[in-house]
Amino acid sequence: MYSKQQERNFFEKTKSYLEDQIDVNEQIINELRQIINYHEWRYYVQNDPVISDFEYDQLYKKLESLESEHPSLITTDSPTQRVSSDLTSEFSSVSHLTPMLSLANSYDLNDLLDFDKSVKKALDSDTEEDIAYTVEPKFDGGSIALVYEDDFLIRAATRGNGEMGDDITLNARTLRSIPLKVPFSQKGISRVELRGEAIIRKDTFGRINTMREKEGLMIFANPRNAATGGLRMKDPGDAAKRGMEVFVYQISFVEGGQQQGEEAFFNSQWESIKYLSSMGFKVPESESKRCQNIHEVHKFCEEWEARRDTYGYEVDGMVVKVDNLQDQVEIGSTSHHPKWAIAYKFKAKQGTTRLLNVEYQVGKIGSITPVAKLEPVPLAGVTVSSVSLHNEDFIHQKDLRLGDYVLVERAGDVIPYIVKAMDELRDGSEVPIDFPKFCPINKNEQIELVREETEAAWRCPKCTCGAQDLQKMIFHVSKSAMDIDGFGKSIVERFHQLGWLNDISDIYHLDYEKVSSLEGFGDKSARKLQKAIEKAKHNPIYRLLHSLSIHHLGKRASKILAEHIEHVLDLRDWDETSLTEIKDIGPVLARNLVTYFNMESNIEMLQKMEQYGVNLTQTEQDKPVEVTSDAVFSEKTILFTGSLQTMSRKDAQQLAIKNGARVISAVSGNLDILVVGEKAGSKLTKARALGTVQILSEDEFVTMLSS
Ligand code: IVH
Repeated sequence: MYSKQQERNFFEKTKSYLEDQIDVNEQIINELRQIINYHEWRYYVQNDPVISDFEYDQLYKKLESLESEHPSLITTDSPTQRVSSDLTSEFSSVSHLTPMLSLANSYDLNDLLDFDKSVKKALDSDTEEDIAYTVEPKFDGGSIALVYEDDFLIRAATRGNGEMGDDITLNARTLRSIPLKVPFSQKGISRVELRGEAIIRKDTFGRINTMREKEGLMIFANPRNAATGGLRMKDPGDAAKRGMEVFVYQISFVEGGQQQGEEAFFNSQWESIKYLSSMGFKVPESESKRCQNIHEVHKFCEEWEARRDTYGYEVDGMVVKVDNLQDQVEIGSTSHHPKWAIAYKFKAKQGTTRLLNVEYQVGKIGSITPVAKLEPVPLAGVTVSSVSLHNEDFIHQKDLRLGDYVLVERAGDVIPYIVKAMDELRDGSEVPIDFPKFCPINKNEQIELVREETEAAWRCPKCTCGAQDLQKMIFHVSKSAMDIDGFGKSIVERFHQLGWLNDISDIYHLDYEKVSSLEGFGDKSARKLQKAIEKAKHNPIYRLLHSLSIHHLGKRASKILAEHIEHVLDLRDWDETSLTEIKDIGPVLARNLVTYFNMESNIEMLQKMEQYGVNLTQTEQDKPVEVTSDAVFSEKTILFTGSLQTMSRKDAQQLAIKNGARVISAVSGNLDILVVGEKAGSKLTKARALGTVQILSEDEFVTMLSS
C-alpha cells in the first residue's frame, strides 16, 4: 500500500502539520487528507498506529477547520465527509452487479474430499492431481458489497435476497477500514464490486454490551447481530459508533483492466487478496493460506478450529476457494452457491434446549440476578446448563417462560446467552416468569426489593441473612481486590459454612490450627494461607477501600480517594460536599461513601481489622507521586523493553514517573524515550524505524536519573 519512503514522508509531514502554521491552498489540504488517510490505514487496517489518538484528533480538527474556511475545497473522499447527517427512514433497494450467493457447507474430511472430487470432475482433471485452494476464515458478521467507479466508492449494499440489497452507502462511508478512494484506474479498472464482511471485534462487542446493559438497552446476542444491525442504522453517526470493521475477501465483478491471463496482475484468489491489500483494504491475509491440496486444506481448517477462541473476531468456519480464477469460471455456480467454493463449518455454538427453572443469586451489593437452569446442551465442546438472565427487563423483553424451548449461543469468549424463546414450539403449558418482589434468598423475612430509576437491577436493601456478606468476602480476597493468593471462592464458602467467616474482618482472625485439621488442608496449606493473609495485611489502603464493595467505588476512584486521606477511618468525617470536591468523585459515589462510613457495623468491622493487623493508614503507594518541575524526564513519554538487569521493570517505571516521565505502553510517534534492556525485540526495531525516539541503554537511563 505505502512504500517505506512514503510512510516516512507522511510521518515527517505529520509533525509539520501538527506544529507549523501553514498557508492554505488546495494542494496543502489535499496533502493533509492524504496524511490523515495514511494514519487511518495504519490504525483501522493495519491495527498499528504510529501517532497517538490525540495527535490524530489534532490533524483531523485542523482539516475540519481548513475546510470550513474554504468550503469550495471540500471533496467527497475527504476523511471529514465520512459521517453524513442525513437520516435514512428507509433504505432503497439496489441490484448487485453479480448475485451474492450462499455457500454450500462441509463438516469433515469426507465432505471436503467429496468437494475436491467434484471440482476435479468439473475441470476434467486427473483424480490424482492436486488442486490448490485458498482457505480463509469465514467471518461471522454482516455481508457487504462495495462498488467503486472511477476510483470512488459509489455504493455499498447489504446482501438482501442475493439479487437486490439495501443501499447502505452512507453508513459504509463512516467505516474507516473502507477507503473512499482507491487507485483502481492505475490498472485500467473503471468499475469493480468487492465482497466483504462487516464485523465487530469480540472485545469491542463486550464493551458495547456492558455499556448497553448500564444504559438499560437490550444487549446483543452476538457480534453478528450487532454488526448486521449496525449496517442498517438510520443515523450514520450511530453506525460510526458501533466499532465495525470490514474485511474484504472477494473481487466479484471487474470492468476494464486486464484481469486474467498472461498480462493479468491477479490470476488467483490468493493474488487478488494481495492486490486488495496493496490497495489499502483490510483483508484476511495473515489469517489465510494457499493450500496445495485438499488434505492440507483440512489440516489448516482443523488448526483454525482449535484456536478460533483466541482470534479477535468471531469466525464460524473457513471458506475453501479453488485458487485459480480461470478454474473458478470454468467450474461455475448453481443458483444458490458457487461450485468452486465451500464453507467448512466449525462445531455449532448455538443450540436449542429447554428452560427448566429460574434461580436467583445475590451479588456483593445486593443486586439480584436471575439465572436460568437449562436442560444441559453441548455447545462447541462445552455443556451448558445454566445461563444468566441479567435482570427483569431481559426476561420481559425476550418474553421468556418456564418450559420454553430456547435458542442458546456461546459466542467466543462471550458467556452463554439466551438468544430467544422459540415461541413457535409453545404448547400453552409454559409459565410466565414472575420476578420476585421480596428477597428470594432470605425467604424467612419479607424484605422488599428496591430498584433505582437509573439501574437495571433489583436490590435487597438490608441483607440480614449473610448472603451479601459472603459475596463481599469472596470479592475481598480476589485478585482485583486484596489479592490473597490461594484463597478462592470455594474456601471462603467452606469457611463461611463452618461459621468461621461472618464478615471481612474474620478473614484476618482465623484459627490456623483448626484450618490445618480440615480435610484436604494439613499444616503446609494452612501455613501457606496464613502467609498470604499476613501479606495482604500490608496492602496499600487503596486496595482495602476497593475491597469493601462500596457501590461505584472502583479501583481508580479508590486510588484517588486514598491520596486524600491519612487513615481509612478519616472518611467518617467527610460529607458529600467535601467528597464531591475531589476530582472524579461524583455525587452518587459520595452518597454511598457517606452512608457506608456512617454505619456503625462497618466502622466496628474496620476497627477490628486494624486490631488484627490490617493496614488502614496511607502508605507510600497511596500517595500521589510528586514531580519537581526540573525533573530530567519532565514532559517526556517513556517505554521500557527487554529485561532490565539492575532493577525490576516496575521499579524503573516508578523512578521514571518520579522524574517527570509518563509511561506509555506502545511504540508510536508519541514516544520520546525507549529504554532498552536485554533481548529487546520488535519495539526496538519499530522505534528505530521511526527515527524520532531517543533510545537509551539501562546504564544511560540510570546515569540520567542521577544527573
Ligand atoms: S466468499 C461467492 N469468503 O459467508 C463467494 N464468504 O454463506 C461467496 N463470508 O454471506 C462468499 N467470510 O458474507 C466468502 N472469507 C469469506 C467469507 C464469506 C464470511 C460470508 C459471506 C456470505 C456467507 C456465505
